[in-house]
Amino acid sequence: QLPQKIELKSTSPSNIALVKYWGKADIQIPKNTSISFTLSNCYTATQLQLVAKTKVEEKTQIKVELDGVSTPSFHPKIEKFLKLIEEYCPYVNHYHFSIQTQNTFPHSSGIASSASGMSALAMCLMQLEKKIDPEVSHDFILKKASFLARLGSGSASRSIQGKLMLWGKHAQVNESSDLYAIALKQDLHPIFKDYQDSILLVDKGQKKVSSTLGHSLMNGHPFAEKRFEQAQHNCSDLLEILKSGNLEAFMTLVESEALTLHAMMMSSRPYFMLMTTNTLAVLNAIWEFRKTTRIPVCFTLDAGANVHLLYPKQHQKNVVHFIDQSLKQYCENQQVIHDEVGKGAEII
Ligand code: PMV
Repeated sequence: QLPQKIELKSTSPSNIALVKYWGKADIQIPKNTSISFTLSNCYTATQLQLVAKTKVEEKTQIKVELDGVSTPSFHPKIEKFLKLIEEYCPYVNHYHFSIQTQNTFPHSSGIASSASGMSALAMCLMQLEKKIDPEVSHDFILKKASFLARLGSGSASRSIQGKLMLWGKHAQVNESSDLYAIALKQDLHPIFKDYQDSILLVDKGQKKVSSTLGHSLMNGHPFAEKRFEQAQHNCSDLLEILKSGNLEAFMTLVESEALTLHAMMMSSRPYFMLMTTNTLAVLNAIWEFRKTTRIPVCFTLDAGANVHLLYPKQHQKNVVHFIDQSLKQYCENQQVIHDEVGKGAEII
């Protein structure tokens, strides 16, 4: 029996890929496996209100409020998402949707809110499933939440659990799947358990090229097949590194992944570049700082100009000082968000 009216609440964090997902087949099937750190401070809190339609055939009404402001520009994305998931969640057709959502990170900061936003929405739906059938297991909820989040935005599948998630079939990980991400529960070296991520907001503008377009440019890309193979190898190597705690190998792999992602963009047709002069200045400053201090700080990038600095918690004081003294100048309004590895989405 479906409730007539119900309010569902969840929170879900953003995540940052170490091995990047870039290139997909239809319905968000990744061309390669990816691995990410789940974040903690950068998250979305979503409240979903469902009100039963008088007739199932009635057109679904959708309302979206972002930080208290009505945002009709999100309606097409939500409509598309509901269409994609109705096969797996037939109950969505019984309701009108009212979504209130808040991000802890500034809107248009260049930090993608699609991962945290879509995973938070998926968690709300799983809260409803749990109410409909209290017998569903926690494991089922997490898997299906990741599955649904993936249909909203590929990388959102990796926001459900902490501290690291792997998405995409990988020969070495039995339970891995292209359909949902799984938490890496293997013995993680203690150094990674509270790894830090300081995000430099180098360019807060809207992305010049959407990730949907970027992914599609991997179809027919001259280096695509080699890149997909490389990512599978990098996932194998990273799984080892995460156990051994070999930071030299970690930094080399993670920086190479970030630069390869951008190299793919620069060698697409049409080609494009999301790094800016300030991004390059930051990368060079990080290399110089690492050489002179031997502090193991490295960078990664997502599909934009912002830079994520990744480092062990024990070096927090020195790295924050370095950021304040030398890197803030390259950020818009000197803005930096300090975050760390987190535990994933929650039903409230
Ligand atoms: O989830 P999408 O379609 O926005 O793609 C995200 C792609 C990257 O952020 C560039 C890489 C990744 O694995 O998160």
